[in-house]
Amino acid sequence: MSTSTTWKPEDWKNYPVKQLPEYPDQKLFNKVYKELKNYPPLVTSWEVEDLKQKLVDAQHGRAFLLQGGDCAETFDNCTSPQIVNLLKVLLQMSFIMIHEMEIPVIRVGRLAGQYAKPRSSDTENVNGQELPSYRGDLINSIEPTLEKRTPNPKRMLQGYQKSALTLNFVRALTEGGGFADLHHPEYWELDFMRRNKYYKEYGDMVNSITHAVRFVETITNNNLNTLKQVQMYTSHETLNLHYDGAQTRRVPHKDGWYNLSTHLPWVGNRTRDLDGAHIHYLSGISNPIGIKVGPPFDDDEVLRLIEKLNPKGQDGKIVLITRMGMNHIHDRLPKFIQKVTSEGLPVIWSCDPMHGNTYSTEENLKTRNFDAILDEIRTTFAIHREEKSHLGGVHLELTGDNVTECVGGAKGLKADGLKSNYQTFCDPRLNYQQSLEMAFLIAKEWKQTVSEKKQESFNGVRV
Ligand code: PEP
Ligand code: CO
Repeated sequence: MSTSTTWKPEDWKNYPVKQLPEYPDQKLFNKVYKELKNYPPLVTSWEVEDLKQKLVDAQHGRAFLLQGGDCAETFDNCTSPQIVNLLKVLLQMSFIMIHEMEIPVIRVGRLAGQYAKPRSSDTENVNGQELPSYRGDLINSIEPTLEKRTPNPKRMLQGYQKSALTLNFVRALTEGGGFADLHHPEYWELDFMRRNKYYKEYGDMVNSITHAVRFVETITNNNLNTLKQVQMYTSHETLNLHYDGAQTRRVPHKDGWYNLSTHLPWVGNRTRDLDGAHIHYLSGISNPIGIKVGPPFDDDEVLRLIEKLNPKGQDGKIVLITRMGMNHIHDRLPKFIQKVTSEGLPVIWSCDPMHGNTYSTEENLKTRNFDAILDEIRTTFAIHREEKSHLGGVHLELTGDNVTECVGGAKGLKADGLKSNYQTFCDPRLNYQQSLEMAFLIAKEWKQTVSEKKQESFNGVRV
């Protein structure tokens, strides 16, 4: 929380701000803002506090954070199949991880509010016409006309409504035990793993999960309730401060302010200026906060940032999401971990292996290679082992649909196959199969870390 007791959700306006739209129609903006401020919250303060408590476990290696979803949600994709598929893949991934890692997995979707995107340029040239860049459905439309690209405040109301619809469905699905597939891991699509060297191990794991589910169902004699109430949290990049600010509230019987548009807001790599508006805003809220850190960055500035966002040094408060890219990780991550550790700053280390490993194909399609993504995760685990630190989570861009956006994986998707179902307007995502495979490989890496630590402790080196 902010050291200042006078902090208010709108004070960020006194600080330099990046990536924020200018709304030409101020009258309309004021009307919309007032309306948004009066809407009921999307999430509750006790859910937020509950998540913070669970993150304390991730910080200490007793739980693992799985954060994932679209690079950018779109209003059009607020549909039943899209939501079901994303939820399904996140739940299945978490089941794989829980089974293999034997610790709880905290599921956080890039979901129900991930509608705004930072852009490297304010304008872009579309078919010879210079237009405002598309900044996500929360701000403007992707349609390339001046009218549609002009920031429209009404989109914030639509964003709130789409988020509410999404959350409503997510809550119904996760609280009602409505996922038949989770009761039947044997239905999980496994054939794609056939060509993978881990196929047998993977199949054995699914059988084992199936038996465990049956066992619990049998002894509790209530197969509808056993898997009821899986918890799913939401997160989005706090980019449009008008949207997040309007939904930042005080709640009865608790001190401080809560951003009640999401459980876990994060600050992006481009807007985390120490003296900027985004950090000032985030310094005043009680939610746990994610900070993306990747090149270019100054170690010491990030240390000051962590202190500013967590002046009391609370556990479970800061999720430090490193996204170095394979080209920089060896140069930057070890030193950075050493500095954070030596200052005794409590953080949950998470790894975003996506954003530092993006490239364009010859046909100008943005893609990522499954192997590079995996490499960054493995390297991050290894560096944390080396530094006697601890990786507590991952942050992935993924979808439950069978898109073709990232190359590689067990099916060996090649660059010339990307066009067959390339759907993203933004960054390339792991598809359903690539995501399950990734979960399995992350869990393997975790087990490796645990067994090395056990070995070290056995050898009397350290625990
Ligand atoms: C993102 O998470 O989609 C993103 C833009 O990441 P970063 O801020 O790390 O570049
Ligand atoms: Co992205």
